[in-house]
Amino acid sequence: MKTVLITGAYRGLGFEVARQLSARGWEVILAARRKEQGAAAAARLQNASFLELDITSDDSVARAAKSVSELDVLINNAGIILDGDDDILKVRPELVARTIETNALGALRVSQAFLPQLFRSSAGRIVNVSSGMGQLSDIATLSPAYSISKTTLNAITCVLGAALKDRGIAVNSVCPGWCRTEMGGPTAPRSAEEGAAGIVWLAADAPQDKTGLFWRDKQVLPW
Ligand SMILES: NC(=O)c1ccc[n+]([C@@H]2O[C@H](COP(=O)([O-])OP(=O)(O)OC[C@H]3O[C@@H](n4cnc5c(N)ncnc54)[C@H](OP(=O)(O)O)[C@@H]3O)[C@@H](O)[C@H]2O)c1
Repeated sequence: MKTVLITGAYRGLGFEVARQLSARGWEVILAARRKEQGAAAAARLQNASFLELDITSDDSVARAAKSVSELDVLINNAGIILDGDDDILKVRPELVARTIETNALGALRVSQAFLPQLFRSSAGRIVNVSSGMGQLSDIATLSPAYSISKTTLNAITCVLGAALKDRGIAVNSVCPGWCRTEMGGPTAPRSAEEGAAGIVWLAADAPQDKTGLFWRDKQVLPW
């Protein structure tokens, strides 16, 4: 039985990934910064426990890492979108910085903190939940802060993947597609279940030697 930690997992894609892995018998650590909602979400699943974790806080991340002894897979799922229809000509740099702080540096901070546990796993994995909106080769112009943050997250995947390749830890980015969650809204074409499937595949079924790549629906995407 493997152990997975999912950030921002009390709702949306994170909760759906937790549900699917728990149904496979995995030990699920459902991490969230909201205590009540996190504990209630974990109580709905088998083999699941709640961990308080704000990915933007060094203290919170350090406390959380101390309380986990074993981990096979880390899924950096927590994310925010703060800009709506702003364009790059007007977006406030401060808002870009706040978005990068959560979507990219949060994932890096959590990955660094949980590396000791991942090193002890026989097949450690880090899955960064990114977005096609961060694709440099087909960059989105809407929500520039969000796009730039996901491009930054993808760069972290590349650098971390290269650094950890010889240590046997796979690091990948994945785009779930546009999904019906609080972030994606009610008119998105995919259900959370469909979006979560590609994340679950990378966490559980993708070959361990696939690393430093960007995926959607089990296919490699160009950066
Ligand atoms: N839905 C889509 O169409 C779509 C498409 C492409 C990529 N994605 C990516 O998929 C991931 C999940 O998105 P979603 O659609 O499930 O969105 P969501 O329903 O808004 O969920 C986002 C989760 O992240 C958490 N979070 C935000 N900041 C946090 C922090 N500092 N510490 C801990 N948790 C934090 C939120 O909790 P709080 O309530 O505490 O803020 C929430 O649980 C995100 O990375 C998103 O960028 C989504």
